[in-house]
Amino acid sequence: LVAHFQPKLLAGRRVLITAGPTFEPIDPVRGITNLSSGKMGFAIARAAREAGAEVLLVAGPVHLPTPRGVRRVDVRTAREMHDAVLAAAPRHGVFVATAAVADWRPATLSEHKIKKGGRKLAPSFELTENPDILAEVARLAPPAAPGAPGRPYCVGFAAESHDLLHHAREKLARKGVPLIVGNLGPATFGRDDNALLLVDAQGHRALPQADKLTLARALVAEIAQRLADGEG
Ligand code: CTP
Ligand code: CA
Repeated sequence: LVAHFQPKLLAGRRVLITAGPTFEPIDPVRGITNLSSGKMGFAIARAAREAGAEVLLVAGPVHLPTPRGVRRVDVRTAREMHDAVLAAAPRHGVFVATAAVADWRPATLSEHKIKKGGRKLAPSFELTENPDILAEVARLAPPAAPGAPGRPYCVGFAAESHDLLHHAREKLARKGVPLIVGNLGPATFGRDDNALLLVDAQGHRALPQADKLTLARALVAEIAQRLADGEG
């Protein structure tokens, strides 16, 4: 067994992470979801814990074991994820949003299973927008003093099928966060490796193809450096 000796770069820090997809029910047996596996977020939770942080992982429906020493809250819908995150965020120094949150949910939830029998037409569903969890956390008031409750240092993810840098820059501005981590999706969904692009107001830097835990450790080191530089 080989221990991984990562310096405790995040000792004394609290890190909040969202991971996985959300599930937006249509009726008791169906819903809208996506192909996010949660692997990147769980790897970041593990890496942050290795770096000495106290970690709270808010997970959508995924099939992954909880990393050792990490506190985990399971949620299903975007609104449940929103409520869990907003309740905890002001007590955390870092928020890393890796979850693939459903942008929309069915406007109404059918109490009973929607039956095919007797229908002439396929049903249609009205959708309504979900809260933007990352943007809301980024709008919290900053802490009044070091260590006081308030807005954590916010890191967003952007999974894009094309024009990664362009979309990442657009999200940086629109969400009002200091760092966006871009990756090409859906090619990376469920895979064990990935390549990341760190995008901030100054520019961008690639973290080349590696397994997700290696990338997670590099990202945690990057975040720790930014906090040490006074960005948090
Ligand atoms: N995010 C969130 N809450 C949402 C939607 C997104 O917290 N309702 C977070 C994601 O976890 C990610 C970042 O915002 O860290 C970007 O998500 P993304 O889906 O790429 O951005 P959107 O603003 O939803 O834009 P689009 O889906 O159109 O690309
Ligand atoms: Ca989205």
